[in-house]
Amino acid sequence: MALSDKRAREAGSLAERVQAHAWYHTFDLGDGVVTQGMFDHRPVVNRYLIPEDLSGMRCLDVGSMDGFWAFEMERRGAKEVVALDVDDPSALDWPISLRDRVVKTFDIEKGERFDLVRTALGSKVTRVLRSVYDLDDDLGSFDLVFNGDMLVHLKDPVTALERMRRVCTGSAIICNPIAQLRFTGGKALAVFDGINEFEWWLPTEETMRRMIVAAGFERVESGKPFELPARSGGPWKGLRGIMRGYADADSPPTK
Ligand SMILES: C[S@@+](CC[C@H](N)C(=O)[O-])C[C@H]1O[C@@H](n2cnc3c(N)ncnc32)[C@H](O)[C@@H]1O
Repeated sequence: MALSDKRAREAGSLAERVQAHAWYHTFDLGDGVVTQGMFDHRPVVNRYLIPEDLSGMRCLDVGSMDGFWAFEMERRGAKEVVALDVDDPSALDWPISLRDRVVKTFDIEKGERFDLVRTALGSKVTRVLRSVYDLDDDLGSFDLVFNGDMLVHLKDPVTALERMRRVCTGSAIICNPIAQLRFTGGKALAVFDGINEFEWWLPTEETMRRMIVAAGFERVESGKPFELPARSGGPWKGLRGIMRGYADADSPPTK
């Protein structure tokens, strides 16, 4: 990306800077400035099992993109929020068939979008560039880990969940697109792509639950699956599973 392009996007009014980007998340930044995100989480924000009051909590948003969930956790009173992501598109698990074919501007600019919102909101969220696969104790431990719509884009979602478990002392909220399969015979199945779309494993709700348990969470609470409102986006639009895995079997249920 030419530096002058970046400078041009950073000039002008808030509305003009917002207009200079294609957005993943929908934010209302005040004074009538609303980002036209691929997804609008605002109507379903209360489906995500996030406690209303996060005061005193250290929270981690894994795969933050434009940062909607990191800023939401801060809005709910979190003591500290860390937003983890990877800017370099070549460090993402792109399927080989798509790796050199898909234009990656959307990924390259996510840090700029995040910073724009961070400044507009006067937020103190810290952004850390690191793959979930390298998530470790050096970032400290977190009372609440949030991970939305990322596992579907990973070759190895269980290792990613294990890494989240490693830094989680309280609970982890996991949201992911899910498949509704009939006649599973009670088995935990998943649909595999890895070629046509940036989508690896699309689990059923039961498979998603088992993946969270397999990663070391002691107890899993399931929310009701819901449709995520989308303006655009790939085949991963649609039904979401939402679950909260607890590090400790005796931890109290969601308030
Ligand atoms: C589809 S977006 C989901 C954004 C947001 N979490 C949500 O629920 O709306 C997936 C995000 O995960 C990030 N991501 C993908 N692979 C990752 C990895 N290995 N480590 C960290 N973040 C990753 C992407 O860069 C992107 O920001």
